[in-house]
Amino acid sequence: MVKGLEFLTLGVLVFTGGPTHASSPLVLNPPRVVVRYGDSVSANCSTSSTDHEGMGWEANFGGTGFEQDVNIVTWTVDNLTDWTIEPKCYTNLIDGEQPSKVLPVILYKNPDSVSISVLSHSGPIVEGTKYQLQCDIQNIAPLRNLVVKWYKGNEPLDNVAYSNVSKTPVDVSPTLMIIPNRDDDGAQYRCRAELDLGPEGPQPPLIMTSEPLDFTVFYPPTFSRPESETLDIRVGEEITLNCTATGRPTPLYSWQSSHVQEALFTPPSEVPGTYTCTASNQIGKISKTFTVNHKPKGDITTLWAILGSGLVLALLLVIAYVFVKHRAGPNSII
Ligand SMILES: *[C@@H]1O[C@H](CO)[C@@H](O)[C@H](O)[C@H]1NC(C)=O
Ligand SMILES: *[C@@H]1O[C@H](CO)[C@@H](O)[C@H](O)[C@H]1NC(C)=O
Ligand SMILES: *[C@@H]1O[C@H](CO)[C@@H](O)[C@H](O)[C@H]1NC(C)=O
Ligand SMILES: *[C@@H]1O[C@H](CO)[C@@H](O)[C@H](O)[C@H]1NC(C)=O
Repeated sequence: MVKGLEFLTLGVLVFTGGPTHASSPLVLNPPRVVVRYGDSVSANCSTSSTDHEGMGWEANFGGTGFEQDVNIVTWTVDNLTDWTIEPKCYTNLIDGEQPSKVLPVILYKNPDSVSISVLSHSGPIVEGTKYQLQCDIQNIAPLRNLVVKWYKGNEPLDNVAYSNVSKTPVDVSPTLMIIPNRDDDGAQYRCRAELDLGPEGPQPPLIMTSEPLDFTVFYPPTFSRPESETLDIRVGEEITLNCTATGRPTPLYSWQSSHVQEALFTPPSEVPGTYTCTASNQIGKISKTFTVNHKPKGDITTLWAILGSGLVLALLLVIAYVFVKHRAGPNSII
């Protein structure tokens, strides 16, 4: 029984022993720091162990050297500008070991600028064509905390994150492919750089947004009712043919023979026939045909109604005449 316990104790000792200590005797406070480039920073390193000779911070900036018989040492820098700094706290134990702990430092920097452009393109944006928008983010660190967000107006389009572990500032230019349509005419595209540095970082997270990219989308003329139209016209009546098309730039119009440059056309009423209108702009053109017919003559029932009322009127006149003549007597001149 006792032998078994000893075996167990031995087993535990073997497990926790060895050249490195399983749990460090050093406590960092705060356990990690997030610092803006050029700002001041400090962190404490303390130990509760009693079997040490002293401790210290080792760093390119703010190192303390070895301090004897202390339980806490402070690393502090007034103006942190070393992108690769790795402050390390250590203690010298009596048994000759030197456990240490590195303080994770995230040094960050706002981008110098964030701007948006259409990649390798000048001139009008045409509906249905592919374009690459590019967001230029200058001199930002660290890249792995950056999220680039794309917006059209207030509508989020896409997010881009980076896994790059480099600590020094970099320039990045993510792109977004778009195929604009006519509804995007007048839209404002933006990109936004967000540095999310966690709860130790600035709150709310740092955000820098580009100026909006104003979008003018050119598209060919389109009719709201694209089919040809047939209209009936009475002699002497005036009629207007409406060829209005939507398009950007604003379409120009031409009519079959006459060179009318407007969307509306009043054909001479005595000339029924076919009128073709073409709406065009620099993107395309579209045509529409109007067929103008004389309104057909009144139908058969109207004809009979007219004839019928004429007969009734004639009959009434005859009766009236006979009646008047009878009253006036045979000597009358009627
Ligand atoms: C470090 O310790 C000192 C004294 O113990 C204390 O005044 C200071 O606030 C501590 N700093 C941090 C960052 O905890
Ligand atoms: C911090 O250091 C940088 C580079 O050494 C220097 O340009 C800047 O003026 C310093 N800022 C302050 C507040 O000391
Ligand atoms: C990613 O990091 C490597 C070095 O770590 C660097 O060479 C490369 O340019 C970085 N990528 C970007 C997009 O900055
Ligand atoms: C012509 O048609 C367009 C739409 O197709 C319409 O907006 C406009 O009011 C019309 N004009 C006339 C004078 O009827």
